[in-house]
Amino acid sequence: MSPFQLTRTLPEDATDAALRADVLQGLTRTPKTLPPKWFYDARGSELFDEITTLPEYYPTRAEREILLDRAPEIAAATGARTLIELGSGSSDKTRHLLDELTGLVSYVPVDVSESALNGAAAALLAERPGLRVHALIADFTHALTLPATPGPRLVAFLGGTIGNLLPAERAEFLALVRTLLEPGDALLLGTDLVKDESVLVRAYDDAAGVTAAFNKNVLTVINRELGADFSPADFSHLARWDPEREWIEMRLRARRALSVKIPELDLVVHFAAGEEVRTEVSAKFRQDRVRDELRGAGMELRYWWTDGAERFALSLATAV
Ligand code: SAH
Ligand code: AVI
Repeated sequence: MSPFQLTRTLPEDATDAALRADVLQGLTRTPKTLPPKWFYDARGSELFDEITTLPEYYPTRAEREILLDRAPEIAAATGARTLIELGSGSSDKTRHLLDELTGLVSYVPVDVSESALNGAAAALLAERPGLRVHALIADFTHALTLPATPGPRLVAFLGGTIGNLLPAERAEFLALVRTLLEPGDALLLGTDLVKDESVLVRAYDDAAGVTAAFNKNVLTVINRELGADFSPADFSHLARWDPEREWIEMRLRARRALSVKIPELDLVVHFAAGEEVRTEVSAKFRQDRVRDELRGAGMELRYWWTDGAERFALSLATAV
């Protein structure tokens, strides 16, 4: 059997329909919003990988530090034979887990980005010829049909991507994750932590403008997929800290009054000068909130590990 299998769990037209529905709903409401999952076409995935190397973007380095320190404990605590990774992207940090999970048979990366899945699998299989990779093109906010692989299973959700879900979406998502866990399985969850506003804002508004390009990439995706005529240069990139909700918001602000045609939706969208579209939230956490949200979904926090500077946390939870 080939060590690599790629399964599309949704037909391509389902992705089309979801994009149409999200754009129609998000750009006809006040204030306007777009969901962050549409950043990640091939170019968006590349831009995200570039973000992870920026001096201002600390989460990837902080989480890598924890993984390097704690992978042996994670391996000992879980004894995982299957690693399922949601929103796996380049799977780059995952290597540190794979290095220690000695009994691992199958790796199941799950992502909406086909290019990221293909790139990650090619790189991993070149280094680890014995590994079986069964990649799923799927939306992790919907019920997943996982391949039949041996337990115990470790479900990993790294990078702080859970922070890109709104609180109600997070509760739904964690309830879905709970349904994936059988006795003996575990969830490994990465969360970025609340910290000084200036550090956070810089991480989402870097000097080189890579995050700005990533943010504007959603307009390019809508142009290509729905025939729209957005000019990304008409919008400026903003990153704002919301101290009550404890999240960063990325927004795109219209530099002037303008109208955009979206022929595939038979829609013209008007923007006032200065009007903003929220394109992403990135929630930052404290331990209590992580514990409470896990508990609310029927899971118990067993381990909490942070990097030395306490910027980022990895939690290991099991079903109760
Ligand atoms: N886990 C990696 C990548 C994080 S970037 C890391 O820690 O560096 C977020 C990843 O989640 C991207 O690869 C993106 O394509 C994927 N993603 C975002 N929303 C998704 C969704 N709803 N379903 C599946 N994948 C999603
Ligand atoms: C994928 N996710 C955790 C990133 C974050 O930090 O919220 C996405 C990102 N947005 C801007 N920079 C990076």
